[in-house]
Amino acid sequence: MTKKTYYITTPIYYPSANLHIGNTYTTVAADALARFKRLTGYDVMLLTGTDEHGQKIQRLAEAKGVSPKEYVDKIVAGIKELWKMMNISYDKFIRTTEDYHVKAVQKIFKRLYDQGDIYKGRYEGWYCTPCESFWTETQLVDGKCPDCGRPVERTSEEAYFFRMSKYAPRLIEYIESHPDFIQPESRKNEMINNFLKPGLQDLCVSRTSFDWGIPVTFDRKHVIYVWIDALANYITALGYGSENQELYKKYWPADLHLVGKDILRFHTIYWPIILMALGEPIPKKVFGHGWLLVNGGKMSKSKGNVVDPVVLVNNFGTDAVRYYLLREIPFGSDGLFNNEIFIRRINSDLANDLGNLLSRTCTMIEKYFNGIIPVPSGREDDVDGRLIDIALNTPKKVEKNMDNLRIPEALDSIWELIGATNKYIDDTTPWVLAKDAGRERRLGTVLYNLSESLRIIAICISPYLPETSEEMYKQLNVDITSWDSTASFDGTKAGTKINKGSALFPRIDLDKKLKELDELKKHQSSANASKVKIRKKEIGIDDFEKLDLRVAKVLKCEAIEGSNKLLKFQLDLGKEKRQVISGIAKYYSPEELVGKYVVIVANLKPIKLKGEISQGMILSAASEDDSKLCTVSISGKLPPGSTIS
Ligand code: ME8
Ligand code: MG
Repeated sequence: MTKKTYYITTPIYYPSANLHIGNTYTTVAADALARFKRLTGYDVMLLTGTDEHGQKIQRLAEAKGVSPKEYVDKIVAGIKELWKMMNISYDKFIRTTEDYHVKAVQKIFKRLYDQGDIYKGRYEGWYCTPCESFWTETQLVDGKCPDCGRPVERTSEEAYFFRMSKYAPRLIEYIESHPDFIQPESRKNEMINNFLKPGLQDLCVSRTSFDWGIPVTFDRKHVIYVWIDALANYITALGYGSENQELYKKYWPADLHLVGKDILRFHTIYWPIILMALGEPIPKKVFGHGWLLVNGGKMSKSKGNVVDPVVLVNNFGTDAVRYYLLREIPFGSDGLFNNEIFIRRINSDLANDLGNLLSRTCTMIEKYFNGIIPVPSGREDDVDGRLIDIALNTPKKVEKNMDNLRIPEALDSIWELIGATNKYIDDTTPWVLAKDAGRERRLGTVLYNLSESLRIIAICISPYLPETSEEMYKQLNVDITSWDSTASFDGTKAGTKINKGSALFPRIDLDKKLKELDELKKHQSSANASKVKIRKKEIGIDDFEKLDLRVAKVLKCEAIEGSNKLLKFQLDLGKEKRQVISGIAKYYSPEELVGKYVVIVANLKPIKLKGEISQGMILSAASEDDSKLCTVSISGKLPPGSTIS
């Protein structure tokens, strides 16, 4: 049987600055939804990416004195790092500067022109560059952008227009006959009453006053309006407009476009109309979520209240940040970010409720049953029945909430089970049972039930807290982790040896941590903040010992043709010789390295770079801004091949 598909998208982000915790929300929420759908048996496609054209980006690049492409390349690399750090399981990352996207957008534009939906005219009006939005005089609020309140610029240029007005009646009908299309409901009314009913103007879809955009193929001084370029990503990412339509056939129409409420208008008015004009199906649902606010206001660079997700993850871990985001923004309204509320939540929900439950259970299994999960011997008590009922109902509640995009409520129901399981410990008092040799069977049942309840909890939290879920599987040595297995209370295998580990979420000293975060904020230079530096996870000595570090002498070093980054080394490792490729040509000329002693990772899997084999990696250190780099050396002379430990 073929699986049901589920295509979910995040907006594609402007690589205009580092992403803040608010931007991170959309992607974390989409990831949780995607993971949930995968868990419950769907063939999922999760798309994210970057929206790299437009006047805003061009100006930012100019201000830095670099080309727009150089500018975006750097920020996009940081965004990808951020998604890795947040554990985002995207299936595809689209960049609107990629060739296949550019070509497909050009085709779409040409086709709409050829069929008469796009025509040439002249634009006279206002433009908000940060929002990349056109406005008429009457739409402005106090002379400013009605969306973001920033100043707008007078624009007067030759331009192409899209006949939106022609499709407005069809769109209104579509929205009204598909009550699920725009979510939440309140926003649907806003779209209809504020934008569609007053009459839709034709949309300006090209610009001539700058050139960082996709050129119109038949009129080269025009670039395609960035929102047309951006919205099309949802289909070009699937191969629409290319030779291979396989993914498009499989996944379109999208099941869900998840977007912030500020860009709902683009997704529920312009986007469906473009699709209607192309004769393609309309996405099934667009959900406009609320904002994450700080101290009651929007996060912005100028207010200096931007919360950096990298700082949070380095201090509290990925899952703590994911948990907060997912729990804090209620369906359809805004949420609040605040360090104190965040830390209190970690301490109460994660360290206390969940972390303690696991560690108490593991401790008792170790203490009373030598770490072996005991055999249950039937329900002997009402309390068992109550726990089992809640445990078996929880996955159903989670599924229902997720189907309605109520992520915080899904988490609430899981925490109800966590609460009930903690209460089960208090009600059954295993430590009292342990004192009575005649009650060992009962004690065994209690500990089995606790393990099984924790197994179901671990499965349920996996879409939201994937690392924590894995850690729970590991500590309880769970091997049945399927969603289906939560339908009965018997997936834990008696006789399994558990691996009690460290606390899932160590308790945080609130006052101390708040002070630390304040200090950090004061000392964070803007240069620092603009670079994603991820503090790596703690490792054990066994991890470190996997590395084979050796001293090597450089016998020969030369540049590699066609690369301004790579150098090719012949190294002496005592008993053997090695070729290693290293990307340090910017910092050293080949001659100055010959005869030098370096340190290499000798057991790194060989790879090919520019067609040359590289058997190891030369260690080096770089300054924060990458302007300086030095290879690592040892403080005295040792024969090549000496081991470092
Ligand atoms: O709008 N809380 O990109 P973008 C919650 N390129 N969400 C927030 C937020 C906050 N404080 N601040 C921003 C764009 N967002 C376009 C999208 S899609 C075809 C093109 C959300 O980088 C915002 O609502 O300005 C949007 O969903 C996302 O971050 C990206 O915003
Ligand atoms: Mg924006």
